[in-house]
Amino acid sequence: MHGGNADRRLHALLRHLEGANPTDSGDRSVSFAPTSGYSGASVFDHVVRAPEDPILGVTVAYNKDPSPVKLNLGVGAYRTEEGKPLVLNVVRKAEQILVNDRSRVKEYLPITGLSEFNKLSAKLILGAESPAIQENRVTTVQCLSGTGSLRVGAEFLAQHYHQHTIYIPQPTWGNHPKIFNLAGLSVKTYRYYDPATRGLNFQGLLEDLGSAPTGAIVLLHACAHNPTGVDPTPDQWENIRRLMRSKALLPFFDSAYQGFASGNLDADAQPIRMFVKDGGECLVAQSYAKNMGLYGERVGALSIVCRNADVASRVESQLKLVIRPMFSNPPIHGASIVATILKDRNMFREWTIELKAMADRIIHMRKLLFDALRSRGTPGDWSHIVKQIGMFTYTGLDSKQVAFMTKEYHIYMTSDGRISMAGLSSRTVPHLADAIHAAVTQATV
Ligand SMILES: Cc1ncc(COP(=O)(O)O)c(C=O)c1O
Repeated sequence: MHGGNADRRLHALLRHLEGANPTDSGDRSVSFAPTSGYSGASVFDHVVRAPEDPILGVTVAYNKDPSPVKLNLGVGAYRTEEGKPLVLNVVRKAEQILVNDRSRVKEYLPITGLSEFNKLSAKLILGAESPAIQENRVTTVQCLSGTGSLRVGAEFLAQHYHQHTIYIPQPTWGNHPKIFNLAGLSVKTYRYYDPATRGLNFQGLLEDLGSAPTGAIVLLHACAHNPTGVDPTPDQWENIRRLMRSKALLPFFDSAYQGFASGNLDADAQPIRMFVKDGGECLVAQSYAKNMGLYGERVGALSIVCRNADVASRVESQLKLVIRPMFSNPPIHGASIVATILKDRNMFREWTIELKAMADRIIHMRKLLFDALRSRGTPGDWSHIVKQIGMFTYTGLDSKQVAFMTKEYHIYMTSDGRISMAGLSSRTVPHLADAIHAAVTQATV
């Protein structure tokens, strides 16, 4: 009989478990105490500890420091004069509108995201009058902030573009090479920063892009280059555009700071618009982390400007195949906030005022720090602090000087000497200036 066989097998299994259990005390109830098979070793014992992310690791170290004067200038997030994170008033207002609207539901968005958000994002970056938008040759998909937009764009290129080499500036945001490598692209660098002038190595840039293979992808920071704060002038952009178009190099713009650099959304988008105006194709990754303070909402967009509407719609169909197995569809809340603000004339204006106030505060911090170093007679030319633009100053301090400032002054920053100007306030500038002065005069070999 089946029942008899099953019973016998069950009893045999129980006897086996009892025999294998050294803690068995004669109690005949089934015990699930760990048997000798579980000796405490993990199947993941071979996993080695990974290093902290070089940027986010700065905050980890900062959090552990009990000093009352500690200062975190590592992470690229805006802080108020009081050193606090800022939620824009216009964002609070938009959230209130969304909460009060009882017709809103939490259904899945389409794979490409909130369509209203996509249209408004394309207009914001390319300009309301952009012929590319009017000709329906731009496809925009909502992605997980700037990082996710770069990743989706890179995956699409790895699958559908004939050239797999991407040129990124040297230096660049530390996540760039990882994003592109993991997507299957092969990463090369082009010269960008000149330590001697603490400005752009324009000649080196032109030479490196000039010798790139035809059709290679080129990553360009749209404005407020991270980490250097050094941007090409409009004339230099025009030369870069001409060179790239003459060699059919494909521009992939990273726009993480629109409006944050100059305080003007249109001015900061000019380099991209210059490339779109010539009728050629390009990719743009947009982030609302900094300019709307929506860091944790993970809201961004990838736009691909194509030659014509038919190509754009085919490209979009393939972008869906990239996104679906990656994150299925994007989150609804952040995109709804952005759309609420962008589509309302008054709220949009209010946003631009708050955005300009953030940009102006950063510019003011540059001036204060520059003046503080000058008044201390700190050796060196610090004019790059006021010349550089956006969230960061690439100070020129080396890793030894940075370590000195952390140890002696509890000031935290990445080891390349990059400081977030957005993390400074008039109260903390003197402390930073003292630290830089001491580092330059005492910690230099
Ligand atoms: C140059 C650059 N690109 C992209 C990003 C992506 O930011 P997020 O994914 O938070 O939008 C950042 C953030 O620091 C950045 O500096």
